[in-house]
Amino acid sequence: MTLCFATNNRHKVEEVQAALGDAIRLITLAEAGITEELPENQDTLEGNAREKALYVFERYGQACFADDTGLEVDALGGAPGVYSARYAGPARRAEDNMALLLKNLEGKFRDAQFRTVIWLVTPNGEWGFEGVVRGRILAEQRGQGGFGYDPIFLPEGADKTLAEMSMDEKNRISHRGKAIRKLVDFLRSQ
Ligand code: IMP
Repeated sequence: MTLCFATNNRHKVEEVQAALGDAIRLITLAEAGITEELPENQDTLEGNAREKALYVFERYGQACFADDTGLEVDALGGAPGVYSARYAGPARRAEDNMALLLKNLEGKFRDAQFRTVIWLVTPNGEWGFEGVVRGRILAEQRGQGGFGYDPIFLPEGADKTLAEMSMDEKNRISHRGKAIRKLVDFLRSQ
């Protein structure tokens, strides 16, 4: 079986492929012959992941899964959530997003979580998988690794931010790592 991961990031695909073994061959969007930007017009992570995966399945007849991730801050009612990438505007700059978040959090409770939703669509049905890591937003950045909000996110029980962790350390505890392991367990059980 060939399964499309709705991304063009080969590295992401290889990581999941390594966990999956050989029974299923994973391909990127480009490898599936899909070059247009996928729609992402929903206001929930579930909605966006499902919209992308269904688009590929319905237009191209290709079994597919897609992911969507957001940082959900308790004191902001779950914002920036589905708008995490463009919180400070369409330029999608991580530095601007972090600065705006820190400003909006002044004097507020700093508990938060990263949440990833993966949606899988095949001829046999649809399934959703979720991964969450709880933590807290620091007042200042720490660390050079990772991306997005990593330098200001301290996971629960950790003494390093996500940006101070190696990629392996982050994958072991992260929202995305957890959601991917659920997807892989499901696919391997089929
Ligand atoms: P995406 O759905 O993976 O494209 O993630 C949307 C946005 O959420 C990204 O542009 C980042 O701002 C943020 N984000 C997602 N995953 C992470 C992460 O692992 N660390 C920090 N920020 C993240």
